[in-house]
Amino acid sequence: MAAQQDLLDNLKLKMLKDNICPELAKTAHQLVFGEGSSSAKIVFIGEAPGKNEDEQGRPFVGAAGKFFDEMLEMINLTRDSVYITNIVKYRPPNNRDPLPEEKAVFLPYLYKQLEIIRPQMVVTLGRHSLNCFLPDLVIGKVHGLPKRMKVVVHGSAPRTMVILPLFHPAAALYNGGMRQTLVDDFVKIPVIMSKINEF
Ligand code: URA
Repeated sequence: MAAQQDLLDNLKLKMLKDNICPELAKTAHQLVFGEGSSSAKIVFIGEAPGKNEDEQGRPFVGAAGKFFDEMLEMINLTRDSVYITNIVKYRPPNNRDPLPEEKAVFLPYLYKQLEIIRPQMVVTLGRHSLNCFLPDLVIGKVHGLPKRMKVVVHGSAPRTMVILPLFHPAAALYNGGMRQTLVDDFVKIPVIMSKINEF
């Protein structure tokens, strides 16, 4: 929807104006805000841009992204029909893990993105993303198991969102067992979505 896309565009401009994480901004090429449908029913959230994402300004376009695209295709979804973003929106130097304070600074903007898009399901990719929403859960134990989360945004009625924790596609790239686990979890997405729509 045009209005939602405008709100997302304005949020990106605000992030740039707010000059968040100037240290990361200095070493990165650009802010990788996210892309896809501004009214997507499903939002995928990764950790932070890597080298390719930093160069192209788009999330999940490197090797992990290729595998991610394959899994989307398996469930008949396209990148245009979902929304894809990361918690941290500048590439950390040498792809190091994002620091807790970096995640904390970016989190309110991620929540704003979700408030604008209002998805039915958030699919977290990897432990960093999961723990931003559900800090006490361990990815190895809860992957593939949907969780309901109540979202209370000031000024609007509380609503429920489903969080589906998945392993990060990069972790599965060179590990056959993990790859199959991720695929098995990924194909649950349409099943869970159809259950959400029954209510
Ligand atoms: N890994 C992520 O977490 N996000 C990307 O955009 C690319 C790789």
